[in-house]
Amino acid sequence: MKKAMYSKGNQKQGLTPITSPWMHQLMEQPQIIQELFKTYGSPLNILHPKSLCLNREKFQDVFKELEVDGQIFYARKANKAKAFVAQALADHIGVDTASTRELSETLTLGASKDQVVLTAAIKTEDQLQIALENEVVVMIDNDDESKLINRLAKEMGVNARVAFRLSGFTFEDEKLYSRFGFDVDSFEDYITQLVGQDKAYTHLQVEGFHFHLDGYSIPQRSDALLQCIKLIRKLKNKGFEFRFIDMGGGILINYLASQSEWKNFDHLLKESLRQETAPVTFNYQGLGYWLEDGQVKGKRATYPYYNQVHGEQFLKEVLSFKTTQGKSLAELLNKEKLQIRIEPGRSLVNQAGITMAKVIHRKQDAKGQWLVGLEMNMSQMMSSSADFMLDPYVMYQNLEEEEAENAAVEVYFTGAYCLERDILLKRKITLPQLPAIGDIVVFVNTAGYMMHFFETEAHLFELAPNLVFTPKSHQISTRDFVKDADI
Ligand SMILES: Cc1ncc(COP(=O)(O)O)c(C=O)c1O
Repeated sequence: MKKAMYSKGNQKQGLTPITSPWMHQLMEQPQIIQELFKTYGSPLNILHPKSLCLNREKFQDVFKELEVDGQIFYARKANKAKAFVAQALADHIGVDTASTRELSETLTLGASKDQVVLTAAIKTEDQLQIALENEVVVMIDNDDESKLINRLAKEMGVNARVAFRLSGFTFEDEKLYSRFGFDVDSFEDYITQLVGQDKAYTHLQVEGFHFHLDGYSIPQRSDALLQCIKLIRKLKNKGFEFRFIDMGGGILINYLASQSEWKNFDHLLKESLRQETAPVTFNYQGLGYWLEDGQVKGKRATYPYYNQVHGEQFLKEVLSFKTTQGKSLAELLNKEKLQIRIEPGRSLVNQAGITMAKVIHRKQDAKGQWLVGLEMNMSQMMSSSADFMLDPYVMYQNLEEEEAENAAVEVYFTGAYCLERDILLKRKITLPQLPAIGDIVVFVNTAGYMMHFFETEAHLFELAPNLVFTPKSHQISTRDFVKDADI
């Protein structure tokens, strides 16, 4: 008997993603999904703002538990959708904006002055003008920015609300390099010499410090926070007032259900690179490893998809760090009357999006490998690391109910760009049956950086539509989806 059914790839030796009930609710409704494809085309990004709410609550619970004044600014660079910004604003949290359009759109969506910060890496005059007109806090990265913001504020007859981005924190006797921000070691001299009445920068109203560390280290974040608190203590004695420290983003998330699967994949990958087993990646791609003199060398260059400590626990550990005097950072922040701010991107849209694409063709290459061509391209689901390592799901229109041993097939999903490397997942995926033309492949948990960050319009392909899913009841219909552009 054949039936419309969905199935996860790699039932054995896979990387099983953590999923949410809403994702299964959709995959259980093939007619509705096919309707959406008919109306909007392929691929489709589905956004679920309610998931942002759930993540937001968990962070706020940590602030409550540690009794700190905490505020969240959703780093919208993780996903371009307006729906998440609207949800963040409705939930009374803020938004971290990194470009003129991110800033102006967030303001248009109704953000108040305390609900936006501007952290753009390149700040243009028109962008700063918008920020100053709307009394948005600007994170200053360098002295040219100080100069420009001060001049604009003077011309506009306002004081610019600013925070200074710091970097170069010393951790375990080594300085943490960053191209961003002022060097923390010389910042005391900088601000005391240049900022304030009768100094070069008279129109900067200093409100806080900001940092965003590369990587995902908890102790590094705790240490940087402590160094900021110490610097603020010194500067308070020199007449500066600080209201907050913003520790940026980089809060790890956990994508995978099983630690043993995660460890096992590493083992399998190395075995396959040594050619001791069949390839587990397309044409033996090493994902950071390579084979040299029969030995696997290098380091896996993927996001750490499995993390025991993640999300709210990650935040709690950063803030619970105890100084040598036995005080926690949470206590020190309170003592100095400082608000702690975070700018989570990926971790706030965890579980909040999926990407679906239609199967267009199936073929076997000269090596006999099955390639399943999808109506999407590599830019529409691209990781900044070596691969997106979550098993996809396939929504079959006609799947044999009885699992037939000989129907199982190993495939790679290929995309529409003219590049040999447009292989949507580098990992080989074992499926219960070869997908048919028109079946749907579902990539889960793609909202954070995967669906939008690298998308391009090469070959004049349209960008993927983004549909916001807000179910009114368990019985869903196509009316539960609206285009993000229409928000
Ligand atoms: C300044 C700043 N804040 C916040 C973020 C968000 O980081 P994440 O998505 O890892 O939480 C970034 C990411 O690059 C950033 O540069």
